[in-house]
Amino acid sequence: MTTPDTSQTHDDLICVPPTAESLLSLRIKHTRIAELMTELETLIYPGSQDSLLLVCGPTGVGKSTLAHHAVQKALQTSAQAMADDAGLIPAVYVEAPSSGENEFSWRLFYSRILAQLDQGPVENLPRANFGIDAQSGRMIRPRSSSGTSLASLRTAVERGLAARGTQFLVIDEAAHIIRQTSARRLEIQLDTLKSLANACGAQMLLIGSYDLYQLMSLSGQLSRRTNVLQFERYRQDRPEDERDFNACVLQFEKRLQHLWGGKLVAHSAALHENTLGCIGTLSAVLTRTAKRLERAQGWSLDALRRSLLTEGQRLRILEEILDGESAINPGLTRKLPKASSVSTNAGRRVA
Ligand SMILES: Nc1ncnc2c1ncn2[C@@H]1O[C@H](COP(=O)(O)OP(=O)(O)O)[C@@H](O)[C@H]1O
Ligand SMILES: [Mg+2]
Repeated sequence: MTTPDTSQTHDDLICVPPTAESLLSLRIKHTRIAELMTELETLIYPGSQDSLLLVCGPTGVGKSTLAHHAVQKALQTSAQAMADDAGLIPAVYVEAPSSGENEFSWRLFYSRILAQLDQGPVENLPRANFGIDAQSGRMIRPRSSSGTSLASLRTAVERGLAARGTQFLVIDEAAHIIRQTSARRLEIQLDTLKSLANACGAQMLLIGSYDLYQLMSLSGQLSRRTNVLQFERYRQDRPEDERDFNACVLQFEKRLQHLWGGKLVAHSAALHENTLGCIGTLSAVLTRTAKRLERAQGWSLDALRRSLLTEGQRLRILEEILDGESAINPGLTRKLPKASSVSTNAGRRVA
């Protein structure tokens, strides 16, 4: 029998201050997340005609985080159904593989989906249908005369998604599927996804930065027929966005009070400008700052200043954002950055 370790009391455990790395696991339920979750819950339902949904927004706004959250939430909501039917996987997350120089690899993409479908108990699945080994219970390559042909992989995915009762499949970095393709080919790529969705009754949630939207709009047909949800940054020119962004800074401040010493929220406006109102970027800046503060053992403005995006990085991201926003909301005028708003120290402005 092992003796329990009593060297650390409960009080010791709760008194240990969180580390800078703990910011990486912080998940703030901010306004945009709540709005998009409501949208997704409205648009994803059995029998929906919207087989493809698009979520677009700037890099670092928190799209992948939202996608994981949507999958987690679907699993929680279906907890009872999953307990009753051990084979059920209501939602699946995959990242579209990067095509590099070559064409998009459907083979790798299908294999990734199959790997996700191979998780959890498989007792209730029709094994022979899509190649589950009777002895090990693991999903294996579909057994057919053509072995691992693309067609048999595709059939395995269709059957797998249907057998798992998957309601929606999140495809992160979806621009990889259609980058480097002509407008005609683009439609073929997306029709391939649509027919997959129709064959297995699952909706596809494509996630990407604004370039995904811009690629899709190369085909008038596609942009008319696809439902687009925008994951917008918090804009500095909207008071309600400013308030919501500040609330996020406050959440980060609360997580590591011993490091910030109450000094962080005073810099909300500078953080808003530097991170362009993207919560993922804010998280990266604050994690770097916290690491520096840990080393320095206390608050220093210099640690924050050195952790900000350089002006060059900020302007490049801003250009992308402005292009994307004006493409997605043609009514919005494209505002060029104010050169005068930038100050010294490689443009890293902190009050
Ligand atoms: N709601 C949030 N609360 C706290 N941290 C977040 C939140 N959203 C994103 N982050 C952090 O920012 C990082 C980048 O976010 P991510 O979702 O990958 O952005 P995107 O996919 O839009 O580029 C994440 O790894 C996460 O640590
Ligand atoms: Mg992402």
